[in-house]
Amino acid sequence: MANSTQHPILTLDPKSFVADLPFIHYQDGTLFIDNVSTKTLSEVYGTPLYVYSKNALLANYQAYVDSFAPLSDVQICYAVKSNSNLAVLATLATAGAGFDIVSVGELFRVLKAGGQASKIVYSGVGKTADDITTALDAGIGCFNVEAISEIELISQVASKLNKVAPIALRINPDVDAKTHPYISTGLKDNKFGISHDQAIQAYQLAKSLPNLDLIGIDCHIGSQLTDIQPFVDALDKMIEIIDQLYRLGINLRHLDLGGGLGVRYVDENPASVQTFANALLPKLLDLQKKYGLGLHLEPGRNISANAGVLLTKVDVLKPTEHKNFAIVDASMSELIRPALYDSVMAIIPAQPHQDTPFTTWNVVGAVCESSDFLGKDRQLALKVGDTLAITGTGAYGFVMASNYNSRPRPAEIMCDDGTHRVVRERESLDDLWRGECI
Ligand code: LLP
Repeated sequence: MANSTQHPILTLDPKSFVADLPFIHYQDGTLFIDNVSTKTLSEVYGTPLYVYSKNALLANYQAYVDSFAPLSDVQICYAVKSNSNLAVLATLATAGAGFDIVSVGELFRVLKAGGQASKIVYSGVGKTADDITTALDAGIGCFNVEAISEIELISQVASKLNKVAPIALRINPDVDAKTHPYISTGLKDNKFGISHDQAIQAYQLAKSLPNLDLIGIDCHIGSQLTDIQPFVDALDKMIEIIDQLYRLGINLRHLDLGGGLGVRYVDENPASVQTFANALLPKLLDLQKKYGLGLHLEPGRNISANAGVLLTKVDVLKPTEHKNFAIVDASMSELIRPALYDSVMAIIPAQPHQDTPFTTWNVVGAVCESSDFLGKDRQLALKVGDTLAITGTGAYGFVMASNYNSRPRPAEIMCDDGTHRVVRERESLDDLWRGECI
């Protein structure tokens, strides 16, 4: 069961905790994000509230560009699923990012935000003929093909449209990413990609079919990886295949290593982007030299997670004999990661008290489910009306929010060096039944 794990009591010193988070700091006893006071934000816009830092997004993206600069042909394709707000996408598009999408909805979000179609890679296991048609009409850069039947389908659709479809085959390298089973994708019993054993056969088939431009090879082994070794193992498996393909006369133009580099939520020690790059660069430079191969990466969480916080207000304090519950105005509807993956996310006060004793609280929402918790056994000094910030919520936060229990979804705010603006309005009650009829 996702919520059955016993957590140790979690004590965080808010000031030293945020010292590791760029563009988040305390000033005169108040938490600031991108130089905007969270007190101002909660007063102006209310809570629960998703707040993003434009400068953190840009810095996190730039870390990839800088770390992989020794390669001459690199495309950082931000994984749209991690945070698809139009302002987030526009920020990254302006900085030069490409995009990794998994649906036609994400395709149109990227185009609406000003992203270039030619820098889009389209991953996903269930592409239909309609999806493929739409993506070909938009002129996307590459399909990451996840099944042998998909190679055939793309060839058929492209032939019918009299177009040539650029494709890479997503190979499942069968390496253990050592992450949560729900977000591990590169083992042979996962549904993703074409199995390692069938790779050569799949390339030969793709080579023989019309209207396909076989440009790449792709893998993505999982998400929130803190260790570099699984990436190196996956790269080695990809190199074996690339070498074999070359001997068969199949020359590719890029290798896509997916996303997945983890972040610090509480006390994890993920490798930095620079360490990640340093571990891969010698082999990647070799591939560039030998085959002229470029690199694509698809980071999501590593760019967006720590560029966002969720602000929530304490509505009720309910001490009981066994547990103390702090009931807040966010819940599993607004942030499902704790309930779904048992993820531990940091919860820190927007304005730490000096005069209130610390108590161990379960921070929970008001949804009618026992799985509705945001943090268990947290040492916090709380009063009713306090604002709390849940950090690391820029990724897989709002995008996974629902209207469960008929709760309108929160507003999203973009901060930029002291300025703030609404980038998605809070949903209204009318929004809850839009499209329904009696
Ligand atoms: N590329 C592909 C093909 C993917 O499937 C994913 C994530 C990414 C890139 C981006 O991975 P990232 O860099 O963000 O780790 N909802 C879960 C995470 C699901 C990830 C799914 N695929 C969570 O909240 O932890």
